[in-house]
Amino acid sequence: MCGIFGYVGKLDKAGEIVLSGLKKLEYRGYDSWGVAVKSETQNSILVKKKTGKINHATVEDLPKSTLALGHTRWATHGAVINENAHPHTDCTKRFAIVHNGIIENYQEIKKNLAQKHHFRSETDTEILLHLIEELAIKLPGSEAVRKAFTRARGLNAIVVLDALENKIYTAKTGSPIVLTVKGQNSYLASDSASLLAFSNELLFLNDGEMAILSSGKITLQNIADGKTLLPHFQKVDWKFEESEMGKYPHFMIKEIEEQPKILLNISANLAESAEKIAAFIKNKNVYFSGCGTAYFAALAGSYYLMSLAKKRSLAVYANEPILVKNLTDDDVLLALSQSGETIDLIETVKMVQAEGAKVVGVVNVLGSTLFRMANEKVLLGAGPEICVLATKSFTAKLGFLTLLSYALSGNLKVGQRLLAQAAEALDTIFSQKQKIKALAKKLVKKQHIFVIGRGLSYPMALESALKIKEVTYLHAEGFAAGELKHGVIALIEKGTPCVVLALNDENYESTIASAMELKARGGYIVGISPKNNEIFDDYLPTSDVGVATNILQIAWAQLLSYYMALELKLDPDKPRNLAKSVTVK
Ligand code: AGP
Repeated sequence: MCGIFGYVGKLDKAGEIVLSGLKKLEYRGYDSWGVAVKSETQNSILVKKKTGKINHATVEDLPKSTLALGHTRWATHGAVINENAHPHTDCTKRFAIVHNGIIENYQEIKKNLAQKHHFRSETDTEILLHLIEELAIKLPGSEAVRKAFTRARGLNAIVVLDALENKIYTAKTGSPIVLTVKGQNSYLASDSASLLAFSNELLFLNDGEMAILSSGKITLQNIADGKTLLPHFQKVDWKFEESEMGKYPHFMIKEIEEQPKILLNISANLAESAEKIAAFIKNKNVYFSGCGTAYFAALAGSYYLMSLAKKRSLAVYANEPILVKNLTDDDVLLALSQSGETIDLIETVKMVQAEGAKVVGVVNVLGSTLFRMANEKVLLGAGPEICVLATKSFTAKLGFLTLLSYALSGNLKVGQRLLAQAAEALDTIFSQKQKIKALAKKLVKKQHIFVIGRGLSYPMALESALKIKEVTYLHAEGFAAGELKHGVIALIEKGTPCVVLALNDENYESTIASAMELKARGGYIVGISPKNNEIFDDYLPTSDVGVATNILQIAWAQLLSYYMALELKLDPDKPRNLAKSVTVK
């Protein structure tokens, strides 16, 4: 989940290049940050590292250099203190290391090093570096890294700067590493968006591969036997400015407002993909999986398949894979993931494929691990999503799943039309910001917020609650409207805000009845629906665009969460304790 950036080349501002790259990667983890540069005079390494976000920090106090490596950390091993921030250096200050993952056998490795080496941190990362230092006494730097990495167990990505050989080495068995070359300059990062400033011809490192970077050159090796491999660069069609905030105050509101354009793009450009996947899954048992917001999209997908195509399916959390064990070639798993790097989903996909079922990867990042593993691939085309909260990537998934379900029922054009209508209706919602800001002011004073939905609105209730939770730190709970009387209604007291999602469908009446039960017990009812109702204390209107009304419901919830965060003076792009992509178990 950490951010990694490395540079080796002819420019002597390596420290600034790396720090600027880290700022674009901070959404991957921001407990601490650090930059290591090679000192051109002393042939050794100097490091600057601190807990907290980068904010306005600089590396002007580091020497000019043509070789640097940096890291933004989401702590897995060792407390959030300066000493545990990456990069770490070895005893000789020849090497610096950054790491993403968990080295499961770190104690076993440390045992044989403790007498000879001085450990300054509590991290598993530093232990591996001292093993590299030990091996480099007899081996070239790249071989020492390769041999040490083969001894480490677990899913890891490491990057090592070598001040003696003026190179950077990277090896991975998990977590993304992306590389590019521009002239005499070589760059490495833990995601593609941060490299777009330099090139969109990118090399996505595969698990089991190692890369050696020198000025303007990248060579690839197989970690197991050191054999040279041919690098395969891919052209990414994202533009640099798409990963910039532009005129917006936060990525979250920028990405919320990009949704109309993205839905129009999906309606026009993913129709063929939807037809292809519909044919692929038509005669198979269908399973969906994802984590967090992606799981709620998976759940919505299972509802769409049934309500639009009369096809049964099952959605499971990727971290609770028991119900997708022992699948066969009669089965297919649709794996949903914005980053394509969520480790729980990667593991479930590996299991399902090993047991003989096919996997359709529905992702937003070209070249991501899931994209490369999947038997069939769907690229959402939502552009870089920098805010830690999933917003446009969620509605992009809903858009594709709408097309898929209509394609399965032979009415693809209806799905395309509904998405285009939803795109237009979103602009109407975006024009009512004063209304949502006023509601946000009211709700931030509450400790508990409940969101109810029935049928197709139920997955939206869950997603709405997650949006509120993860960006305001207030307790929000989404639940099936029909569940109220089975216990949850005990929580309702005078003034408890209850957001009621009601589509203009067969569940409308029963949902309103549930809302009345809440109101009877003092609940403050916020209605999100195509139809107003006298029991609503606040009403957020949506057009009625069939299943695509889900997209309008969630747009209101996204805006509400955003303005509540601003009201609470919280950072909507980088909420506490979170990271954009969960690449460690
Ligand atoms: C959603 O706002 C969160 N950022 C989180 O739940 C996220 O959806 C989840 O970690 C899955 O990420 P993915 O789509 O990249 O796999």
